[in-house]
Amino acid sequence: MTTQLSRRSALKLAGAGIGSVAVGATALRAGTNGVFRAGSGDPYDLWHDWAGMSGVDRVVGAGVLACNPHNTQPWRIAVSGGVIDVHSDPARRMPCNDASGREHFAGLGCAVENMAIAAGPAGFTPAVSLFPDGTGSDLVARIVLAPGGSSRDRELADAIPRRHTNRGPYTKAPVDVSRLPAGIDGADVRWVTDRDRLGDLYVEATEAIVADDEQSAEAFSWFRSDRGDVDEHRDGLTLDGQGLGGLTLFAAKMLPAQSRADGDAFWVKATREVHTATAAAYGVITVDDVTDRAAQVTGGRLLARMHLAATALGLGFHHMNQITERIDRDRATGGPDTFSGRWGAILGRPASTGLVSFRIGHPERTAGLSPRRRLADVTTG
Ligand SMILES: Cc1cc2nc3c(=O)[nH]c(=O)nc-3n(C[C@H](O)[C@H](O)[C@H](O)COP(=O)(O)O)c2cc1C
Repeated sequence: MTTQLSRRSALKLAGAGIGSVAVGATALRAGTNGVFRAGSGDPYDLWHDWAGMSGVDRVVGAGVLACNPHNTQPWRIAVSGGVIDVHSDPARRMPCNDASGREHFAGLGCAVENMAIAAGPAGFTPAVSLFPDGTGSDLVARIVLAPGGSSRDRELADAIPRRHTNRGPYTKAPVDVSRLPAGIDGADVRWVTDRDRLGDLYVEATEAIVADDEQSAEAFSWFRSDRGDVDEHRDGLTLDGQGLGGLTLFAAKMLPAQSRADGDAFWVKATREVHTATAAAYGVITVDDVTDRAAQVTGGRLLARMHLAATALGLGFHHMNQITERIDRDRATGGPDTFSGRWGAILGRPASTGLVSFRIGHPERTAGLSPRRRLADVTTG
């Protein structure tokens, strides 16, 4: 079906707020583009099926449902009896947007932590060792499951299928950060009090990313704007995950797919007018040295725990890493380092300790589900 639609009615359809998505369009997309199937169908099954799973599958499934950078799902998982080996998949790295690999390895840490959290209530005692073959190896972690469960992490485990990244607006209500985890062995959280200064730095870093042709193109290559792309790839970012209001999301799905330039402009606008404007609090996961592989994984473990704890409290959680992406990019390209000094000043610690960051708050909208590849496609054994 191709229906002509005037720019004016498209604007009306897109509605208020950040309704600038694809308003230059003049034709509707074929079919309904999954408008009525958000969060359902094959790529979303694991979210719905996980609660009914048991044994080692339940633990592995928890890892696959973890937050991870750009939904690259950077893992390959080998299962042998009660031993789970979590490998990095180097083909799923993003060299322009994550030049140092900190997000890739933090994302693997998120999967490891989700598995460790799920293990106790599933009837196992997990023993996790990081890089058992050394930090040069793709084997990031080995999790050995011994019989004998624990209900210590039950609340966090229950939050696993309800945890999503929420990129929508948050209310003005304050957040009591003392109810969230303070740290784990090797990683801590730093709560940022100067929200305006950090918000401005996020906007500036976002503008720098979209002005960098290679970074922008690489990010766009992980955006699945069409339901057909979602069904084919089952990874990447989607319209459902952008925190749009109902009418805007409907319009964005029905109108022709956004160009890279439109998407970049939308992202800068949303960062300025929604993400930083409505953040109730910002947290930064800190480690001794952000370039250390084991520290990246350990910081990721705290990040996953934090996201689940926020979910259990009903809070919205949005990972935001534009600043560190630019720091790593400038270092990789030999460009002038324009962000480290200000990043370190905001942290009150050396910039080399600020690994990944996020905003939290009471969400105005329910977050959409993100697709996942089949367990059979990411596991062996
Ligand atoms: C290490 C790491 C870095 C991330 N960085 C960002 C980011 O800068 N901006 C963003 O919107 N989401 C970011 N995310 C969130 C992911 O895009 C998200 O987890 C993924 O798309 C899967 O969606 P879900 O969390 O809703 O399951 C990050 C997640 C992780 C674990």
